[in-house]
Order: sequence, then structure tokens, then C-alpha cells
Amino acid sequence: MTHAPLDRRSLLKASAATAAGALIVSRLSAQGAGTTKKLDPIRVGLVGCGGRGTGAAMNALEADAGVVITALGDCLADRLEISHKHLVESHPERVKVDADKRFVGFDAIDRVLATDIDVVLLATPPHWRPAQIEAAVKAGKHVFAEKPMAVDAPGVRAIIESCKRAEQKKLSVVSGFCWRSSKPERATYQKIHEGAIGAVRTVYATYNSSPLTPVARKPEWSEMEYQIRNWYHYLWLGGDHLVEQACHSVDKINWAMNNEAPLRCWAVGGRAQRLDTEPGNIFDHFSVTYEYSGDRRGYLMARQWDNCPSDNSDWVYGEKGIARINGWGPEHWIRGENNWRYDAPAESAGDMYVHEHEEFFAGIRSGKHRNDSAWMNQSTLMAIMGRMAAYTGQAVTWEQALASVERLGPDVYAMGDVTTSAVPRPGHTKFS
Ligand SMILES: NC(=O)c1ccc[n+]([C@@H]2O[C@H](COP(=O)([O-])OP(=O)(O)OC[C@H]3O[C@@H](n4cnc5c(N)ncnc54)[C@H](O)[C@@H]3O)[C@@H](O)[C@H]2O)c1
Repeated sequence: MTHAPLDRRSLLKASAATAAGALIVSRLSAQGAGTTKKLDPIRVGLVGCGGRGTGAAMNALEADAGVVITALGDCLADRLEISHKHLVESHPERVKVDADKRFVGFDAIDRVLATDIDVVLLATPPHWRPAQIEAAVKAGKHVFAEKPMAVDAPGVRAIIESCKRAEQKKLSVVSGFCWRSSKPERATYQKIHEGAIGAVRTVYATYNSSPLTPVARKPEWSEMEYQIRNWYHYLWLGGDHLVEQACHSVDKINWAMNNEAPLRCWAVGGRAQRLDTEPGNIFDHFSVTYEYSGDRRGYLMARQWDNCPSDNSDWVYGEKGIARINGWGPEHWIRGENNWRYDAPAESAGDMYVHEHEEFFAGIRSGKHRNDSAWMNQSTLMAIMGRMAAYTGQAVTWEQALASVERLGPDVYAMGDVTTSAVPRPGHTKFS
């Protein structure tokens, strides 16, 4: 598939696209705003029944009392069965997935979408997200898609197009960039956007965590199965930890900058702890500088190292003050001309993973569909752009990143052999 490159303005406006002669394709949309009774069932299918997928299904069940899980899909039978057992045990009356609605294989997405679900939750490794979102929108399903949206620029371009079609079809597309649904984060970024620290000049964000222990190889597994079970470690499947994990922090830089695309970025990265004997081909640290017009900057530090302190926080520097957002801690405050602290009781913040589903299902029921296209695709591309700059050692502009033709992964998906590209080497790895 080929995609015409989009400029920065087009990308920002992608989600604002409205439909002439909008198609009404989903059963729930067809009922129209305000006509759906609160507890009318919403049939939900899950594709990618791992840790987060099972968690997302639980969040959906908690968020909306009418949700019923009716179809499951995964390329690995054991992952699907474990997830199914867990979901049935937790919600026996609302998880009704007959054996003929439990699909195993790379075509599980198509078979789940062919059932009578209204909503699909997508939580496979990110490599598959663009094609799965495209198929889901084509099938007229509302989509919840885990972050990141893609691992390469062709994938981002495809999702931008799918989101436009979703808008026309009045379908929701909600992303798993969960911090956007966190009450303390929302309160702080709202203050920033209301001008509490004046014009934002600089953002500094960290995603410093530990490495994930690889799953040991079993002789009966093909290389493809082994890589899927260790997908975090493989560039084509996860996009490297900057794109897969630290995309949350990239998204918060994007949020602080009011979803304005950077002009270009520089980056460094490499493997300081990861050994060549370990599976996969990703880096274990990155540092990215995003350049914005008017000499504004966004700085990201991300690493996956053992025996080093973890941190996931953001510092936003403005002309009148500083905002501190501590994702894994209680601190959310502003200091300067307008001192402020988020001091609501911790329990009132609730669970951001449930909130994103509450808004997702409320939008479906009311007809006010949420479409995260503008920022979810932009944050994903910002992370990919940082990876490109770190891998090549070169500055990468927004336009270059958006027009990149590099497509990661094999052309055919089958449980057999799959090759692994070499670990990139800055100064030698070429941009494409
Ligand atoms: N928002 C968050 O805080 C958060 C947290 C964890 C993970 N995630 C995201 O959720 C996604 C899944 O992560 P996870 O930790 O659950 O991984 P996981 O390995 O636990 O689950 C992935 C599942 O997808 C299945 N799968 C792989 N390829 C498939 C295909 N082509 N078709 C069908 N099934 C396929 C695997 O067999 C596995 O069961 C990732 O995108 C990850 O970045 C988000």
C-alpha cells in the first residue's frame, strides 16, 4: 500500500475531518445519540489476549455495565485460553465466548471482526495495529487500540487514513495512551494550557525503567513464535522501547506542547547493558532532543537498565513558572507566579485505565464518538522519529519522518522462520 505524505498541518487536522453524507454502520451508532438505554448490551471482542489485552477487557467490563465480551482472538492458543479463563472467573455472567468465537491464528482479527461485535479491543504487539485498525474500521467496529499505534511511518500514515474513515463512519477510535485519561495529569496539563506557567519553553521527560526478562526458548517453538513471545525485544514487533514504552513520555511532551509537531529531532542511543547474547535487536537507552519553532525544546531520557533508579516524570518550564508531573508518584504541582498543587485525595483519582474505557463507551452510547487521531498518531510518529535519529545519528525532520518508507517486519506471517535485522549503528545505519 502506498500513502501520500501528509504535512504537519494535515496531520493535526486529520481527526477534525468531518463526513459529508456520513455512513452509519454500527448497530449502536444507528440508534443515535441519546436513544440507547444505559444498559443495552455492547458486544466486545478482544484481539491480543495477553497481559494488557486481558486487562483492557477487564477495564471495559468495569467501565460499562452493559459490556459483554463475546469474541476472543490470539495467534497463540495458550494465551487465549488463559485470558478466557481469567475473564470468565472474574465476570461469569458477562463473558460469553462460545468455543466457536475463540479464534487462534494470524487471521484471528478477521474472524473476530466477522462476528456480531460492536467494539474491538486491539492489544497485540504494535506491529499489527495499523492493519488491524484498518480492518476494524472497514468492518464498522468501534476501536480501542493500545499504544503505540505503529512501529513505522507507513503504519502511522495508514492509521491516519483509517481514523479519517472512522470519523466519516461515526466510529470511535480511542488509544491506550492512558495518561491522557489520568485525573492528576489532566488537571496539571489543563493548568499549563490555561497559562499558569506562561508560554511553554521546555519540557523534560523521563521513562527510566528496568529491562524485561526474556521468555526462555522451547524446542517446539518456531522462531516466529519465540519472537512473538518475546516481542518487546524485537524491533519489527515492538518498535524498540522508545516507541513501545517511552511513547507515554513522548506523548506527554506532545501534550505539554499542545499537540504541536516538532520541527526536527536529534538523538543518541545504544546498548550499554544489553548483551548480544540476549534475544532481540533493540537499544537499551535513548536521549532525544525535539526542536520546536522559536527555539523551544522537548528533551526525553529513556532507558531500560538494571540496578539503576527508575523514574517516569515530566518537568514543564514556562515563562512564568514550572510544572512538575510525577507519573509514578503523587507530585503534580506548579510553582512560579501561580502556585498550585493537585491535592485531591488519591482515591478520587480512580484508575486511568478504567477512565479511558468509561469515556470510550460513554461516547459510543451518546453518539459523541471520541477519536484520538490528532495526538495519538503524532505522539507515535514523534517516538519513531526519535528512534530514527538515534539509529542513524542524524537529525530527522518531521517531514522526513512522516514520509519515511521504512517498513519493519516480514511480508508474510507464519509460524516458521523469521530473520532478525542487525542492531543499528549510529553513523552507519541509513535513514530510509
Ligand atoms: N497502556 C499501557 O500502560 C500498556 C501497558 C502494557 C502494554 N501495553 C501495550 O499493549 C500491547 C500488548 O502488550 P502486552 O504487554 O499485553 O503483551 P503480551 O505479549 O502480554 O500480549 C500480546 C498478545 O498478542 C498476541 N498476538 C501477537 N501477535 C498477534 C497477532 N498477529 N494476532 C493475534 N494475536 C497476536 C500474543 O500471543 C499475546 O497473547 C502493546 O502494544 C503494549 O505496548 C500498554
